[in-house]
Amino acid sequence: MSHPPTLHSPLKVAVVGTGYVGLGTAALLAYFGHQVVGLDIDQDKVAMLRRGELPIYEPGLGELMAVCGDRLRWTDDYASAIPDADVIFICVGTPPLPGGQPDLRYLAAAAQDVARNLNGKMQVVVNKSTVPVGTGDWVTRIIEEHAPDYKAHQYNVVSNPEFLREGTALFDSLYPDRLVLGGNNEHGVARLLELYAPLIEQDFEAPAHVPRPAGYTRPEVVATSLSSAEMIKYAANAFLALKISFANEIAGLCERVDADIEEVVRGIGSDTRIGRQFLSAGAGWGGSCFGKDTSALISTGEEYGYDMPILRAAVTINLRQRQLIVAKLQKHLHRLQGKRVAVLGMAFKPNTDDLRDAPAHDTIARLNELGATVVAHDPVAMERARREWGHLKYVEAESAGAALVGADAVILMTEWKQYAELDWNEAVKTMRQPVVIDARNVLRGGLPGGTLERIGRRGQSQPQPQSGPALHLKPEATK
Ligand SMILES: NC(=O)c1ccc[n+]([C@@H]2O[C@H](COP(=O)([O-])OP(=O)(O)OC[C@H]3O[C@@H](n4cnc5c(N)ncnc54)[C@H](O)[C@@H]3O)[C@@H](O)[C@H]2O)c1
Repeated sequence: MSHPPTLHSPLKVAVVGTGYVGLGTAALLAYFGHQVVGLDIDQDKVAMLRRGELPIYEPGLGELMAVCGDRLRWTDDYASAIPDADVIFICVGTPPLPGGQPDLRYLAAAAQDVARNLNGKMQVVVNKSTVPVGTGDWVTRIIEEHAPDYKAHQYNVVSNPEFLREGTALFDSLYPDRLVLGGNNEHGVARLLELYAPLIEQDFEAPAHVPRPAGYTRPEVVATSLSSAEMIKYAANAFLALKISFANEIAGLCERVDADIEEVVRGIGSDTRIGRQFLSAGAGWGGSCFGKDTSALISTGEEYGYDMPILRAAVTINLRQRQLIVAKLQKHLHRLQGKRVAVLGMAFKPNTDDLRDAPAHDTIARLNELGATVVAHDPVAMERARREWGHLKYVEAESAGAALVGADAVILMTEWKQYAELDWNEAVKTMRQPVVIDARNVLRGGLPGGTLERIGRRGQSQPQPQSGPALHLKPEATK
């Protein structure tokens, strides 16, 4: 069944790069009624998409794509996707280089291939990849050099940074807080306002599986210069990373002074100037964006001889936080050689299979170094880990419960709902030593008969009396 388009004048859109961002963008715009072609150089991905399979795990995305019908198609051929498109989104990866700068080679290649296939009429090229300030101008240069019969004002480059969170990508894309559109010329931005009209007006029929939240009206449209839009994306991610590092730094002090980070965060986060979100203490941030974007911002500063000490500190605290998890384990198990450690959660956060810069990676690597036997489980990321984490040593567990059997300790690395909902009081009975490191502070109350270690919480390692309150769940999931 194909969802009826809500638009009077649908546009033709090409989305270059069909990863987490490209797929979400393609599905969103096709859902609004535009004609969308998703393009990727990875032929396996394109073949999967043509078969109706998703190359990534993202809740609800498959259902949304299914209702788009023939408004959504896939190709690996620039010549069949670009000439016809009114708007071309570039959504390729910009992974970090060893020095922290983003690797722009995929972007350069995509921009060149786009440029070679432009049609000489008014087309808008939109940078959705996260790129350093000034990259939009560079893409304009690439178009000048490579577009056939280039004439000024035929093309516009616009920056439209993406703010979706993996795991809730559809919700974030359909009901965003803001839409940032950066351009140095009003034509490109005007075309994007037309493209995004259903999003801005919120006059589309909300998909049944991603309902419009009560009270939500519309996103704020933030129209800026190209360079400001590019900076907004980095500054937003850097600030969120900073908040998490701040919570972790305070959590460390809480442990020392016998205060409780959850209480402290509730107390400070209820101040609207501060806000509760992204103040969760735990194993630290991870994923494809925060580490990469903070490093990129620091390295941009270095290019200009401008030090960014606050961001450098946020990165340092994040690294320290990852080391803390194994240190907490050592506090209870001491020598880890030969000990069996269960790791629950491999992806950097719940509801995604994305393993990029996941704290679980560093934890498993450290446990390998220390000679522990690692038994790992993740509800959706294990297949991907088989491909991407071949250098790590661990045994796969069929379920969270199975991972715990005979283990000397378990580390709850990712706050998957099913881990929080495990009957922990029963599960720990199957362990050789019932040591639970809750690296995401999701378990509440005591753990009768076990040792529960959390981050920045009071009453660490205090086994509760059997008659004590049973473990219950924290109502609000983190991040
Ligand atoms: N993943 C997120 O949560 C998120 C959120 C906001 C912004 N971003 C930014 O969006 C960009 C994309 O991120 P992602 O997570 O979707 O990346 P991804 O690695 O999941 O996907 C990138 C895709 O681009 C394809 N590609 C590479 N070179 C290509 C080329 N020359 N032509 C066509 N396709 C090409 C790859 O095959 C891959 O499928 C990055 O800059 C990232 O920082 C990501």
